[in-house]
Amino acid sequence: MTEILPPDEAGLARAAALLRSGALVAFGTETVYGLGADATDATAVASIFAAKGRPHFNPLICHYPTAAAAFAQVEADARASLVAERLWPGPLTLVLPRQPDCPVALLAGAGLETLAVRVPAHPVALALLRAVGRPIAAPSANRSGQVSPTTVAHVLAGLEGRIAAVLDCGPCPVGVESTVLDLTGPHPFLLRPGGATLETIEGLIGPVGRGIPHAVAEAARGLRSPGLMVSHYAPSLPVRIRASDVAADEALLAFGRPLAGAGAVYSLSDRADVTEAAARLFDGLRSLDAEGARRGLRRIAVMPIPDQGLGLAINDRLARAAAPRG
Ligand code: TXA
Ligand code: MG
Repeated sequence: MTEILPPDEAGLARAAALLRSGALVAFGTETVYGLGADATDATAVASIFAAKGRPHFNPLICHYPTAAAAFAQVEADARASLVAERLWPGPLTLVLPRQPDCPVALLAGAGLETLAVRVPAHPVALALLRAVGRPIAAPSANRSGQVSPTTVAHVLAGLEGRIAAVLDCGPCPVGVESTVLDLTGPHPFLLRPGGATLETIEGLIGPVGRGIPHAVAEAARGLRSPGLMVSHYAPSLPVRIRASDVAADEALLAFGRPLAGAGAVYSLSDRADVTEAAARLFDGLRSLDAEGARRGLRRIAVMPIPDQGLGLAINDRLARAAAPRG
């Protein structure tokens, strides 16, 4: 059963308590309804992908009540501060480098070194963000492959019974998603047109690139040769998937009961739960990479993971990490 919560004090308190406990709550913004989870809780973030039925771990936008709260977790330069001052709260998302001590789960950013942040212009959404006191990761609140929802009825049509609650924020006034602006490089880049117009943004910070940005072209190249990916998404050690045995000079990414004999072990999920494994995947790859380098191991071996539920997304990422490098 999915609770429908009114946008009053009691409804907000309930929505905030659910989010703080790791549950999923959909809420309205000025653009579309988002499917929210505590961004600092990797398991809660993993359950977003499970509820949406997403076959890949797309990076998610983190929502904050103020620019100051957002900029405490990402590196904002003068351009970011300027657009934020003029356009937040509003339908603009900024992609910026994560701060080293950023508490947002790696899975929320799909393992990237960057994070997408935004301050939505909706009074109920802002009240919710203040009440939770943590960043909220939220993709649009639809099943994967369906269009974004702009009413509670749209949300329920796709997600009834799959999420704890939806906070009724009325129909979304903008109705298209936020503009996504990449400010990680020397030249600003439009990653997705949306609610904030290009003209307004260019009026503030000058020309904004469009088409295929350098970083994206590099990343696409990285799909075939992960060693080249600018995102540092792929580990530096080679990856061997569907391992049924493991050598002493290999690090093991285990699923279920670990194979014996590895030089190092990271357990994705002792109880072979794919949602728990998804929550730990990027941390596991990074940990084994670092430990493998320290101990002179030559490879990461990964135990088989079923293609069910989030297993499909996990295996998609692992297959890329294991692809031959150019
Ligand atoms: O209006 C909106 O933005 C809504 C509301 C709920 O805030 N959210 C939304 O989220 O549309 P979603 O997940 O459907 O779209 C997020 C977009 C995707 O195109 C994703 O690739 C991009 O933002 N994105 C997120 N993090 C990124 C990152 N670190 N680097 C590049 N792109 C990123
Ligand atoms: Mg979407």
